[in-house]
Amino acid sequence: MLLPYLRAQKEIPGVFGMRHIAISLGLIAAVTAFTAKSSFADGIDDKVQLCSGCHGENGIPQEKSTPIIWGQNEGYLYIELRDFKSGARKNDQMSAIVADLSKQDMKALAAHFAGLKWPNTAQPSPSKDITKQALTVIGSIGCTSCHLDQYQGDGSTPRLAGQQSGYLQKTMADFRDRSRGNNPGMSDLLNAAQPADLDPIAQYLASLTVIGGGQ
Ligand code: HEC
Ligand code: HEC
Repeated sequence: MLLPYLRAQKEIPGVFGMRHIAISLGLIAAVTAFTAKSSFADGIDDKVQLCSGCHGENGIPQEKSTPIIWGQNEGYLYIELRDFKSGARKNDQMSAIVADLSKQDMKALAAHFAGLKWPNTAQPSPSKDITKQALTVIGSIGCTSCHLDQYQGDGSTPRLAGQQSGYLQKTMADFRDRSRGNNPGMSDLLNAAQPADLDPIAQYLASLTVIGGGQ
């Protein structure tokens, strides 16, 4: 490739000079684009740090009422961030966080957290009676038709297996009284359960194994 240019330089130096400048400009443009791309990545790193403050450095949240987001399904993570931003789902802490996020940031964050390994919180299995109560309600409502056989969910349907028990209970109660209003269908379904069923369901789901999760 270089040889013809060298020859051209000997014959018509002026033209080679022009080409040289054009190539250099091309290189500068490429380097600038690369730098812009890596500063975008740095922006996400800062945001990921922020999330860790509550959702945990190792994927285990600081509070029992904060959900695990490491390894959650990507489509679901994005939809929740979008709903917090639009106000369809309300939470003082999360609303403040998403206020400054662009759609591109939310997509990148959803992909980032979905790619991490779900942590093992080793939540204990409830007693036989509690498990039986949970399974009766789950069976009568048919939760697995959407959350799938082992409650791993898929796409925009969340994984429930291994989620924090305290969070599951809180968010199911929020669906029931519609203070979590971003999916009226889930609210209707959970209103077919009794308030006293929520704790058994939460304990049961929290104790389930996450396929591909941490040990
Ligand atoms: C100040 C604490 C705090 C910070 C910081 C924070 N979150 Fe949250 N996040 C929460 C709490 C609490 C909830 C549960 C809200 C509820 O009960 O409805 C939540 C819920 C979520 C959910 C919904 C999960 C589900 O299972 O429905 C997603 C997704 C999420 N956060 C992503 C993020 C991301 C991404 C960041 C960083 C950009 C972040 N959060 C930063 C506290 C925080
Ligand atoms: C028709 C499909 C469908 C059925 C049946 C269903 N779910 Fe859901 N569920 C969803 C979808 C979709 C979401 C996500 C809603 C959203 O976008 O916020 C969800 C969300 C949830 C969440 C919130 C998870 C989180 O991380 O915040 C819980 C808990 C839940 N469902 C429990 C149940 C239980 C328990 C049952 C049975 C009593 C059930 N679901 C039945 C579709 C369904």
